[in-house]
Amino acid sequence: MNIAKTMDVKITIIDREGTAHHVDAQTDMAMNLMEVIRSYELAPEGTIGICGGMAMCASC
Ligand code: FES
Repeated sequence: MNIAKTMDVKITIIDREGTAHHVDAQTDMAMNLMEVIRSYELAPEGTIGICGGMAMCASC
């Protein structure tokens, strides 16, 4: 039996106030960076990811 092992990627996100956040981005959920930022609630609701990551609103 071959069980795929997933690993988290450690990334540092600098928020709009200049604060660094060190987070683990899961690789098994196929999230883009905008979705990772939203999942950690690093930006006020409604200020990022407005178009869902389609590169149309420039919020992320
Ligand atoms: S959510 Fe990133 S550009 Fe719109």
